[in-house]
Amino acid sequence: MSNKQQLLSFLMNAEEPISGEHLSEQLGVSRTMIWKYIKSLKEDGHEVEAIKKKGYVLKQLSSQLSVETVSPYLETTHFARALYYLESCPSTQFVANELLVKGKGMHGLVVVSEEQTAGKGRLNRQWVSSKGKGLWTTWIVKPDLLPHEAPPITLVVALALAKAIHSTTGIQVDIKWPNDLLIDGKKVGGILTELQATPDKIEAILLGIGINVLQAEEELNQDLTKRATSLAIECDTPVDRTKLLAAMANELEQAITTFETQGFRRFQVEWERHSTMIGKKVTATTVRETIQGIALGLNEHGALLVQTGDGVRTLFSGDVTL
Ligand code: BTN
Repeated sequence: MSNKQQLLSFLMNAEEPISGEHLSEQLGVSRTMIWKYIKSLKEDGHEVEAIKKKGYVLKQLSSQLSVETVSPYLETTHFARALYYLESCPSTQFVANELLVKGKGMHGLVVVSEEQTAGKGRLNRQWVSSKGKGLWTTWIVKPDLLPHEAPPITLVVALALAKAIHSTTGIQVDIKWPNDLLIDGKKVGGILTELQATPDKIEAILLGIGINVLQAEEELNQDLTKRATSLAIECDTPVDRTKLLAAMANELEQAITTFETQGFRRFQVEWERHSTMIGKKVTATTVRETIQGIALGLNEHGALLVQTGDGVRTLFSGDVTL
């Protein structure tokens, strides 16, 4: 943690004003340096008040996502320890890819943009990413996995995100195979997994995660064929994007580490518990065909098993509706 991050962390945890003298002793830097860090924190949008003869108080954290604001909530070694923040970009997937090309895409780095002008969904769909309303993120993951072991990672990530949302907001999130996060049947988030690999080795996985956080009803549901929602619509209390991003990092690192060592089998039962489609009649569309049947559950590779009139079908990808 840098001195500035540490200073912010002290201010965030303090119950009363902290004097410049105390801060300079704690950080082992001069009072002038403390003053410079405070000035820089203010420039980042944090509201820091200097109370005469008492010291500094943090009145309001900046709403801008940064390593400084997120790190006090992190329990990770790698995830979100590096955070690349942008006001706007075409897609965080492109930015993460550029970082990888330049050799700067370390494991756990997250790219966050307030807005995406060409956000990508699965199957070449557009992902609407309006300014300041969501968490539009791409996480660079370099897992200890072989290429053929990677596909269920999307399901593991979906489960981790459902937990992160639940711990931050109290909202129960359902998972729709393979990559949708739903609240009462309405989409609140999605995952776009892009694998960069040779036949023998995974170079990186770009985990694109979009979560609708602050949109109002009328912003989302102009297209009545797609039912969407945001955390703000579903939650009575204000949703803190900083805490949610940190919770995502914590859950993602833990889940992906477990997946590396224990495989998808370890998540199978928990995943099925979070899914509303098991035991129900579904229509599944793959690149080849559309089938109908009862969703039985997942196999140990994360493939969806569907009981049709012709027997049990195993689906590795596709779109499923109830
Ligand atoms: C889907 O449900 O189709 C997946 C949506 C994934 C959207 C996220 S937002 C951040 C990242 N950048 C993108 O362009 N897409 C993903």
